[in-house]
Amino acid sequence: MRRILVSGALGQIGSELVPALRARYGRDRVIASDIRMMPAGEQAEQGPYEHADCTQSHQILEVIRRHDVERVYHMAALLSAVAEDKPQVAWTVNMNGLYNVLEVARQYDCAVFFPSSIGAFGPSTPRDRTPQDTIQRPTTMYGVSKVAGEMLCDYYALRFGIDTRGVRLPGLISYVAPPGGGTTDYAVDIFYHALRYGRYTCFLRPDTCLDMMYMPDAIRAMIEVMEADPARLTHRNAFNITAMSFTPEVLAEAIRQHLPGFAIDYEVDPVRQAIADSWPRSLDDSAARSEWGWAAAYDLPAMTEDMLSKLDAKLKAAK
Ligand code: SER
Repeated sequence: MRRILVSGALGQIGSELVPALRARYGRDRVIASDIRMMPAGEQAEQGPYEHADCTQSHQILEVIRRHDVERVYHMAALLSAVAEDKPQVAWTVNMNGLYNVLEVARQYDCAVFFPSSIGAFGPSTPRDRTPQDTIQRPTTMYGVSKVAGEMLCDYYALRFGIDTRGVRLPGLISYVAPPGGGTTDYAVDIFYHALRYGRYTCFLRPDTCLDMMYMPDAIRAMIEVMEADPARLTHRNAFNITAMSFTPEVLAEAIRQHLPGFAIDYEVDPVRQAIADSWPRSLDDSAARSEWGWAAAYDLPAMTEDMLSKLDAKLKAAK
């Protein structure tokens, strides 16, 4: 039985992608891997786990060979704010890690999913309804690694026939795992603070509009793009996908519909504000819609309602 490998399995996306893949393809068909030595808590009970550092090609090769892997979801990466703080580490993890995965995929004929991002765009990109094919001159190390990653995946598809596919993810909102140092993290933190303290101090300006998505939609997109009929795909890599666009003040208002006393104030972090100001306000996802039938299920009101009720239950259970 050929298997599916998820790198970065303990991260923000991996923690939800692994259970979704196991529910769909079977527990033992999905190998979780991460740079962390031991999976936390119950994770160890949930299915096969391998410690692997994607910057060490022999570790990736060993896992792929031993488990007869046919598809890799390469989620191991540094997010935008951390990458700006440690650009050299970000290049090593985000680029060398991807290169190592693609090289082993070439040798063992694996398909590869690569998560690109709204960060792959920059200040010279059209910012509203950003087209699928447009100017990509990002000004962050995170963005540089995402554009280069998109191109490297295209190269491996063209030159070696590797089935590389990917999407450009917007900011992701989830009640399961916390984000790890992104510019869009405020849209997760705000829910924790709303439920715990009834107020939140936001690190972006109130009018900063960014593209966002609820995690269940993002997970479904990652599964659907890899299952899509290749004959229908004109693009392979880095499909724009979107679900909603909002500013911190609009999100605060949506939360107030459920928690009327909720208050927000602002202490702008200049680094993350500059990153956000270089990104699109909204994406045009028509290529994903027409080539593989993409459609988001959650808009802002639906996401806010579900997020508040699920997170409330989680916080109460943890008490
Ligand atoms: N959510 C990511 C970040 O803020 C964007 O891809 O870094």
